[in-house]
Amino acid sequence: MQPIRGFGIDQVAAVAEQTGGSHGGPILRMENLDTDLPLPPEALEVTRSKLEDPKSNSWLPFTGDLDLRAAISDFTAERSGHRYEHEREIVITAAGMEALLNAVLCTVDAGDEVIVTDPTYAGIVNRIRLAGGVPRFVPFLAEEYGWRFDRDRLGDVVGPRTTGFLLMSPSMPSGGYLDEGDWLAVCELCRERDLFLIYDAAMERLLFDDRPFVHPLRMEGMAERTVVVGSLSKEHRMIGWRVGWVAGPADTMTDAGWAHVYNTTMPVAISRFAATAVLRGDQSHVAECVAELARRRDTMLSGLSDWPFVSPSGGWSLLLDVASLGFEPAEASRILLDEAKIAATAMTGWGTRSRGGTSGSCSALSRWSGSRPSPTAWPTRSLRRRLRVELEPQAVDAARHFGHYGHASPMALATRSIIRLTSCALVPKFNRACPAPGGP
Ligand SMILES: Cc1ncc(COP(=O)(O)O)c(C=O)c1O
Repeated sequence: MQPIRGFGIDQVAAVAEQTGGSHGGPILRMENLDTDLPLPPEALEVTRSKLEDPKSNSWLPFTGDLDLRAAISDFTAERSGHRYEHEREIVITAAGMEALLNAVLCTVDAGDEVIVTDPTYAGIVNRIRLAGGVPRFVPFLAEEYGWRFDRDRLGDVVGPRTTGFLLMSPSMPSGGYLDEGDWLAVCELCRERDLFLIYDAAMERLLFDDRPFVHPLRMEGMAERTVVVGSLSKEHRMIGWRVGWVAGPADTMTDAGWAHVYNTTMPVAISRFAATAVLRGDQSHVAECVAELARRRDTMLSGLSDWPFVSPSGGWSLLLDVASLGFEPAEASRILLDEAKIAATAMTGWGTRSRGGTSGSCSALSRWSGSRPSPTAWPTRSLRRRLRVELEPQAVDAARHFGHYGHASPMALATRSIIRLTSCALVPKFNRACPAPGGP
């Protein structure tokens, strides 16, 4: 366990708990990824109606009931053109991160290298380590317009110990996107070097600005070497239901099924009915949420135009390059909490260290290389003043309004990047659709 450390969220959450008390006011909890976006219409209704169904209090089946697996098979086939055989090629899990751990446990041997983007959610990087693997990083470069996957570096990063890729698009936490050319380059390498791909599909539809959805399963020869990790936590916002899945070739799924059984025994039974109904239901709520997320991104970027954000192509988060302002990630996190009552995670360990010529880690609260012009460093006093004047009153309002975020819930301790797009947080004054604090 030596190289496996906390992901920063835990520490910020703990400090936010204490500081909230001494501030005597709410803290805007942005260190985790809870959301205020509405649930799909079926979720509550179906769950309520099944509370007394005996199947809601059953262990069985260990790898997920067949109705749900069939719904996932249809759902994935529609998106990817590839149909998984639901009885042998899909395992239901306690959400996406359990699925991802199962996937690495059954594909990675000790010392195997797995390629991820830099930055990547630390929960993913550390699951690779838990399985004995070694994460290797391909940069997302910060450009004027947003992130660019540095596919020219792929050839250097893939080495003799590389066994596969673990990728998502849009990526968490950057919101970086892999376009068709990027996926072609990745898939070509997979075929040439006989590598697997673990594809995290949790946010695949959360794409802004009409970016085309490119599914790696549509690329030649990929179905036999791809494991798909799915979740209802992001696209469908059902974070607390804890439903996810892993899908792939039958032999690998047999292994994934045993990894699952010996890890959790079974997914949450009471969630299965809603999950099936939601996956079979009308998906138009996804486009509505994408439009809302994009609108929040635009509000943030225009309202805080001289802050060094890197524009996301999709997803739930928006990253601030504090190292370019002259701050260490941990210091910036502390100042945000002290001066603006915002709990945000310093992303040390969410990528490689010392990239872009700084000693900070590559992370949300750090520096990225790329061709984006670097802003002038802000003196600490100036940052403190700007936080106090520009952000603090809005953060407090937002925290009061989103009472759930103003005080930690158990779920709030899960995952987080820095500035959340999933609430009206931080810039309600620019955000007309955001109800007034204390409102309904
Ligand atoms: C990349 C990525 N995939 C999936 C998830 C969803 O996790 P889960 O499905 O375990 O809730 C997260 C949560 O932060 C994530 O960052």
